[in-house]
Amino acid sequence: MTSVFRERMLAAYGAAIGQKRDELVTPALILDLDVARRNIAFMAERMSTMPASLRPHVKVQKSTELARLQIEAGAIGVCTATVWEAIVMSRAGIEDVLIANEVCGQGKVMALAEAAKEGRLTVAVDDASNAADLSDAASAAGSSLEVLIEVDVGMGRGGVRSAEEAVSLAQRLAGLSALRLRGVQGYEGHCMLEPDRDVRIQKAHAAMAHLGEVVERLAAAGFECEVVSAGGTGTYDITGANPLVTEVQAGSYVFMDKFHGNLVPGFSRALTVLGTVMIQHGDTIVLDSGRKSIGIDFVLPTMVEYPFYQARYFAEEHALFDVDDRCRLKLGDTAELVPGYAPSTVNLYDVYHVVEDGVVVDIWPIIPRGPGHGGILQEGHMR
Ligand SMILES: Cc1ncc(COP(=O)(O)O)c(C=O)c1O
Repeated sequence: MTSVFRERMLAAYGAAIGQKRDELVTPALILDLDVARRNIAFMAERMSTMPASLRPHVKVQKSTELARLQIEAGAIGVCTATVWEAIVMSRAGIEDVLIANEVCGQGKVMALAEAAKEGRLTVAVDDASNAADLSDAASAAGSSLEVLIEVDVGMGRGGVRSAEEAVSLAQRLAGLSALRLRGVQGYEGHCMLEPDRDVRIQKAHAAMAHLGEVVERLAAAGFECEVVSAGGTGTYDITGANPLVTEVQAGSYVFMDKFHGNLVPGFSRALTVLGTVMIQHGDTIVLDSGRKSIGIDFVLPTMVEYPFYQARYFAEEHALFDVDDRCRLKLGDTAELVPGYAPSTVNLYDVYHVVEDGVVVDIWPIIPRGPGHGGILQEGHMR
């Protein structure tokens, strides 16, 4: 059934359907559907040769339409960074949703417990008191939650710090009636962007070796792990080939932003931001797509047509480039930019302008935008 959100976004942006990609009101977020489909198909084909399954991370895209394409291509479910993303995915009919992150704080814990009445939700835990809160909330809501113990495999973010801590947490979980332990998660984020592939392989193997020890210690204590979840775009083919790992959490492969660049071959850029030259003086051009329109984390965006110009800087509403006589852009012209970082770009927009053969064919909502729930709880928007 069409969601309330989708209807609202179609009302707001639907006039763009049928327009050419370079004629849109800017800044506009453009999704090249053919390219995204190819990225999804390529990943599905590569993963079919490996022991692990694919559970794509959808915090990058926040789109149920893309998630459905990934599921149709063989993904076993999705993972999310927030409880709100998980609720959106679950209500859209994705059957097995993992929040690959801790959920803490009363409002979010209660929302998770409520949502678990409607769909299968799994959440990462690394702390016994947080687990107890989750279990209490689920019991009160009349639901149950599945959990993965998050293990720190070298990144130093979430996760129990040792096998002893994992076993002790598993023992505490066994006493919590509304939780069921499915296994472990060990995200090797510190390996993801290592440019030297041999070093990346070494680091990822070391991370998974640690995860393997934890899995063994848990088994010896009577806790078999049916799920061992790990990996991202930069390590999907290393971690996915490891027989220990049952599922890979890659997400950025769908868009391949500048940050991920050419780390892994076979994927192409599917996401751009269209901007307009709003100011031109001498050799300086200024596009209207500043950092309120495009993610500049980690690496600065570049222009698709002129990749050799480095931006001077991105102000809130201004992207400044110093150009030379190779640049044919004039005041009022549009130009596409490759985001530095896709997740923080997507999060700024209401919708994707979905483009095929240079023309907008659809408008896909980005839900939930921003860090919060964006009204998804109040509006019953997905059914
Ligand atoms: C826990 C977890 N899993 C998977 C990913 C996906 O990584 P990528 O977008 O590089 O594929 C991330 C990204 O930050 C993450 O935090």
